[in-house]
Amino acid sequence: MASSATQDRLSPQQFRRLASFIETYCGIKMPPVKKVMVEGRLRRRVNILGLSSLNAYCDHFFEQNDVGDEIIHLIDAVTTNKTEFFREPQHFQFLITQGLPALAEAGAGCNRTLKAWSAACSTGAEPYTLAMVLHDFGAAYRGYRYSILGTDICTEVLDKALLGIYPEEMISPVPEPFRKRYFLRARDRTKRTVRVMPDLRASVRFGRLNLMDEQYGVEDMIDIIFCRNILIYFDKATQERVLQRLCHHLRPGGYLLIGHSEATAGFSLPLRSVAPTIFMRE
Ligand SMILES: C[S@@+](CC[C@H](N)C(=O)[O-])C[C@H]1O[C@@H](n2cnc3c(N)ncnc32)[C@H](O)[C@@H]1O
Repeated sequence: MASSATQDRLSPQQFRRLASFIETYCGIKMPPVKKVMVEGRLRRRVNILGLSSLNAYCDHFFEQNDVGDEIIHLIDAVTTNKTEFFREPQHFQFLITQGLPALAEAGAGCNRTLKAWSAACSTGAEPYTLAMVLHDFGAAYRGYRYSILGTDICTEVLDKALLGIYPEEMISPVPEPFRKRYFLRARDRTKRTVRVMPDLRASVRFGRLNLMDEQYGVEDMIDIIFCRNILIYFDKATQERVLQRLCHHLRPGGYLLIGHSEATAGFSLPLRSVAPTIFMRE
C-alpha cells in the first residue's frame, strides 16, 4: 500500500539513523529541526517505491547490501538547490575588473587555457554565468581560451544543468545584452522557457562529485574555484577540510570564492583575502 498520508512520521530513532548517515555521507548537518522537511521530501520516494510508510522507507534503505542507487534519491531529496544567474554579482564584478585581467597578465586564457570550477553548481546557473563572463571578457584577446567544470552531488540538478533549459523569469538578473547573446527562447512561447546557446553549453562540463570525498579526482592548478552557498550546510571541521582540499586544486595566484554568509576565519588555509568572500591562493 502506498503512503500519501502527511501524518506519516519517521520515528525519532529512524530519523537519527538517517540523519547520521546523511551527515557522514555528504556533510549536510541534520539537526532535529530538519525532520519535518526531510519527511516531506521523502514521501515522494515512499510513494514511488510503493512502501507503506517513512519508517518502512528507512528499513528499505538500510537493508540494501549496497545503498548504491537509492542513495542518489535520498541525497536529491535532502539537498537544497537554490541558485541564480549572476548570484552575488560583486563576485563577477571583481573577476571582470581585477581577477581576470590579473590572471590574463599571468597567461591564463592567453598563453594557456584558463580553468574554472563551480564545486557545488546546482542546476548550472553559476557555471553558465561564469561562461558568459569569460566569453565576454575573452573577446578582447586573440585566441582566449577557458574551460569550466561544474560538479554537484545531486544528479537531478546535474541533469538540468546539462540540458540548460530554465524558466524565463530566471534570466531576469542577466544583463540585457547577455540575454540576447547567450539564450534562446523556446519556439513554443507558451512554455516560457529559455535555453543556453549551444556554444556556451559546450564550454561547461558537468560531473557528479561529493565534496566529502578524500580525493576529488579533479585536475590541479585551477585558476578560479567557486564554492558558494554549500559550506553553510557543513559543520566547521568539515568546512575547513573541504576548503583545504579545494586549495590543493587551486593554482598559486588563483581565486577561491565562497558565499556571502560563509567565512574562513580560524581555518588554516594557504589563502589571502582580496575582497569580502574572495581569496587568492598564496
Ligand atoms: C544552495 S546550492 C548552491 C548552488 C550555487 N553554488 C549557488 O551559490 O548558487 C548547494 C548545492 O550544493 C550541493 N551539495 C550538497 N552537498 C554536497 C556535497 N557533499 N558535495 C557536492 N555538492 C553538494 C547541493 O546538491 C546543491 O546543489
